[in-house]
This record gives sequence, structure tokens and C-alpha cells, in this order.
Amino acid sequence: MTPDLMDAGAERVARHIAFDHALQTESGGRAAGYGRHTTAGEVDTTHGRILYLEDVSVSFDGFKAINKLSLDIAPGELRCIIGPNGAGKTTMMDIITGKTRPDEGTVFFGSTIDLLRHKEAEIAQLGIGRKFQKPTVFEHLTVFENLELALKTDKGVKASMLFRLDSAQCDRLAEVLHTIHLEGSVLRLAGNLSHGQKQWLEIGMLLMQDPKLLLLDEPVAGMTDEETARTAELFLSLKGKHSLMVVEHDMSFIRTISEIVTVLCDGSVLAQGTLDEVQADERVIEVYLGR
Ligand SMILES: Nc1ncnc2c1ncn2[C@@H]1O[C@H](COP(=O)(O)OP(=O)(O)OP(=O)(O)O)[C@@H](O)[C@H]1O
Ligand SMILES: [Mg+2]
Repeated sequence: MTPDLMDAGAERVARHIAFDHALQTESGGRAAGYGRHTTAGEVDTTHGRILYLEDVSVSFDGFKAINKLSLDIAPGELRCIIGPNGAGKTTMMDIITGKTRPDEGTVFFGSTIDLLRHKEAEIAQLGIGRKFQKPTVFEHLTVFENLELALKTDKGVKASMLFRLDSAQCDRLAEVLHTIHLEGSVLRLAGNLSHGQKQWLEIGMLLMQDPKLLLLDEPVAGMTDEETARTAELFLSLKGKHSLMVVEHDMSFIRTISEIVTVLCDGSVLAQGTLDEVQADERVIEVYLGR
């Protein structure tokens, strides 16, 4: 994109941000309406689940990394997943996103979409966004360009070159910038952001696609306490509009954001409940939290 176009784009976004601020209310204002935009197809959640895994298993060279794993998540829920190293948390996300094929089991997105019939790219298109631990933003591009790029991922080279944000997309970009607290950094190079800001930018890139379900693997690892607190606020603001599955080892972060916590161990669910409940569970203390 040329500098002229960049400036024009940034100006348009700035206008939208000003518009957003004007409409802010104590209850979250326009940000609360984020879920209105629907790019992916609707997901049938009439049975009360956005994600459903039943008896899922996968082995690597004879080692059962996931072992008869069953769990489900309600629409709009923020589910925390904890468990010792090697419990299978990342592998579970690999299975949901189509990166790893399980040997057996059922994985459904809503009531009707069998995720095991879809490839990784299709699953992203269906509305499942994934954040890996390491930030993967484009460091030599600005915050604006990174977010804009998130809308072009499925386009060819020519279409991408001709791509220009329409008004709704501009509006979305402004909302996302507000949500991830980067309104003041639109034209900064992503490479110059702090680690926490890069993580938020990557989450923003996922939000540009308006995912129904967000999978976040150790999102606050390496963040300062202040960045961690802001990330907790961010996730709480996303809950309800999106469903979230958050894997973390940081217990104070989990305490801030959690409702139901699922404890994974040896590839299956060891315990589930509020953080207080699972922290009081002898088996969880034994394998993970320590005495
Ligand atoms: N592609 C693979 N090939 C072989 N083994 C694998 C593969 N992926 C995962 N594993 C093994 O499966 C087990 C589960 O790993 P996984 O990365 O899912 O754990 P985790 O719960 O995410 O751990 P951590 O908290 O350390 O991130 C580990 O023993 C790991 O070595
Ligand atoms: Mg992991």
C-alpha cells in the first residue's frame, strides 16, 4: 500500500474512532455491539454448545497425547483450560483447528459442523480463530496494515493489491482498535510495539474476521503485570460476543477471568468446576498445583 493510501486509510479510521468515542456508554457502548457483524456462516447452537468434543484420542508414536477427551463449551462462554506441561492442551487446540487429525472421536462446531471433515483453512473460515503463544504479527507493517491484512487472507495477490476497506470494514477496524487499546498506535510499526501490544494486535487480527470461537494458547506468557491485567479486561469484554477457550498457567490471571475451569491431565479431563473447586481437588493438587 502506498503512503498516500495509508494516510487516507488511517484518517478514515481516525474519524471512525472519534465517532466511536462519541457513542461510548458506561456499559461498553459500540464495542458491546461488536458481534453484530457476521462474516462466517451462522453456527447452529440450538443444543447449547458452540464446541463439542467426545472421546477424542490421538497417539504420537504409540504415546497417547489425547486420551478419550470429552468436553463442550457454551456459546459466549469463556472457558479456561489448565493442566501440567504435556497434558495435551495445545494438542487439543491442534485437533479443533484441523492441524492434527485425531485417531478417533467426535469434534463438532455447533450442532451441525463436523470439524473432522474440514481442513485447517476451512475451519478458520468457519469462524474459529487461533492465537499461538508467540506473537505472529507482521513487524515491518503498521498496526493499521496488520489489521487490514487480516481481511485479505483468503484473497489472491491481485485482489489483495486492489483491496480497499469499505465503510463497514473501516468501522470494524475502528472497533477492533478500540477493543485492543491500540487506537493511539494506528501508524506505528508492529515491530516497535511492546510484547503485550503485539499480542493484542494479533488478537485484533483474529477479531477482524469476527470469529465465533477464539482459541488462545498461553496469551499472557511474557507479559508485564499491567499488560496481563489489561488482557484480562480484554477477554472479559470479548466474552458473550465470542466464545473463548483460554489455556494458561498464570493462576492469578485465571482467577480474574474464569467461570468454569477444565483441568487436563494425560490427555483427558481430570476435573472441572470453578477455580476454587478445582484448586481444592486432591487429584489436581497432586498432578498440577503441588502441595
Ligand atoms: N506432533 C507431535 N509429535 C509427537 N509428540 C507430540 C506432538 N505434539 C504433541 N506431542 C506430545 O504430546 C504431549 C502433549 O503435548 P502438548 O503440547 O499438547 O501439551 P501442553 O498441555 O500444551 O503442554 P504445555 O503446558 O507445556 O504447553 C507431549 O508429551 C508432547 O511431547
Ligand atoms: Mg501447550
